[in-house]
Amino acid sequence: MKINHLDLSNYKGFKDTSIDFDDGFNLIVGENGSGKTSLLDALAVAAGSFLLGVKGYDSRHIREEDVRIEFSKQSENPVPLPQYPVSVAAKGLIFDDVALHGKWELEWKREICGKGGKTTSKDARALKELVEKMVHKVQADQRVNLPLIAYYGAGRLWIPTKEMQATENIPSELNNSVRLDAYTFCIDPRIKLSEIFNWLANEKYIALEQGHENATFKAAKDAMRRCVDNCNYLDYSVKDKNLVVEYCGKGRLPFRLLSDGQRSMLAVVADIAIKAAVLNPHYGDAVLRETSGIVLLDEIDLHLHPKWQRQVVSNLISIFPKIQFFASTHSPQVIGETPAGQIIVLRQDGSWFKPDASLGLNSNEVLRDIMGANYVSRVFAEKLAELDTLLANAEFEVARNVLNVLRNEFPNVPEFDRVDAYMDRMDAIADEDDSGNCF
Ligand SMILES: Nc1ncnc2c1ncn2[C@@H]1O[C@H](COP(=O)(O)OP(=O)(O)OP(=O)(O)O)[C@@H](O)[C@H]1O
Ligand SMILES: [Mg+2]
Repeated sequence: MKINHLDLSNYKGFKDTSIDFDDGFNLIVGENGSGKTSLLDALAVAAGSFLLGVKGYDSRHIREEDVRIEFSKQSENPVPLPQYPVSVAAKGLIFDDVALHGKWELEWKREICGKGGKTTSKDARALKELVEKMVHKVQADQRVNLPLIAYYGAGRLWIPTKEMQATENIPSELNNSVRLDAYTFCIDPRIKLSEIFNWLANEKYIALEQGHENATFKAAKDAMRRCVDNCNYLDYSVKDKNLVVEYCGKGRLPFRLLSDGQRSMLAVVADIAIKAAVLNPHYGDAVLRETSGIVLLDEIDLHLHPKWQRQVVSNLISIFPKIQFFASTHSPQVIGETPAGQIIVLRQDGSWFKPDASLGLNSNEVLRDIMGANYVSRVFAEKLAELDTLLANAEFEVARNVLNVLRNEFPNVPEFDRVDAYMDRMDAIADEDDSGNCF
């Protein structure tokens, strides 16, 4: 499944916005409040419409809080004016395995027409019927490649500590998932750690019983290993009743004791890998390479060191090459690793643009050209501008005095060496001129 185009009307902060998307990776950028999470929520409504055709699994409706609010200017106290109709319309590819299903491109729309109204699904009927047909095929044990759908919000790993300990330990019941179970809560932006540990424990017991690991279990563990820097070991331990990981030779630690960045990355990769394994077990060891679908990932750089921010996009693409990703970020490193054609920069008014360049820009250039931010401290930038004006006006003596004050205020800043070198050069030129005048 892929979403190539989205039209939003009165959805959260978007009055009337249309966006085209890349087939592979989409990076959503913009200031706080520009609508990155809102766009991911809208994509969740669009992608979640797939579940209209899978009975027993919830799709994502348009909610009351999604209705765009304007404020009346008629009275002194602003009165909220909810704007209708609210709609999320999408165009995309539902099943992309032409050999198995033919090529299925569809348009569908979800809408709330007025206050108290329910999200309509009449304009998603073709999608619903197509998915129902596929579900019948799954139930009749015919070969169907099911698309993965997953949403990871900025609070994806927030779980009360008590629940965390309870979910981390050995699951009370081990059961084999049916393929469609990968759609349970898939549009919920929180990760269900208990489902991850359940699946890993289940697979471990199967491996012990049958004397070898399932190919999908191996593939999932391999993907998880690749997303922890310097990982020496990763497995589900029956003895510890836990996922254990060793990195940098520090000994085998349970998942709970890993760092926020490691847990966040591991949980996302594990969840995607497990969903793929449950949906399409027939792919065997190629399950992560072959499963297509949609992953929504808010704040992809969450908790990651800049070194990992530089790798996270290429890691995800190489592990899950057929997934269409929609990720948001505030990281210049992530932006500097992504081609301009895959970046959507949101403005506060709901409009958007693609930058002229991004991949290969250094982080300062990304901050200045794409994110509209200072790449040095604002105060420092102002002082440096003052200094540059003095130099431009050849007021070198004053400039030297200012520079001495600034060196105390901003110690060890290499930028001042440039200013010093410039003034030395100007002094040398002046000396040459003076000596020239003598002759
Ligand atoms: N129902 C609504 N009606 C009008 N505007 C809304 C509505 N819901 C949200 N907004 C606007 O959208 C903004 C929030 O957007 P969103 O959370 O998507 O921003 P963001 O880009 O993800 O920001 P951050 O970087 O802080 O996470 C709010 O500041 C508000 O202005
Ligand atoms: Mg946000």
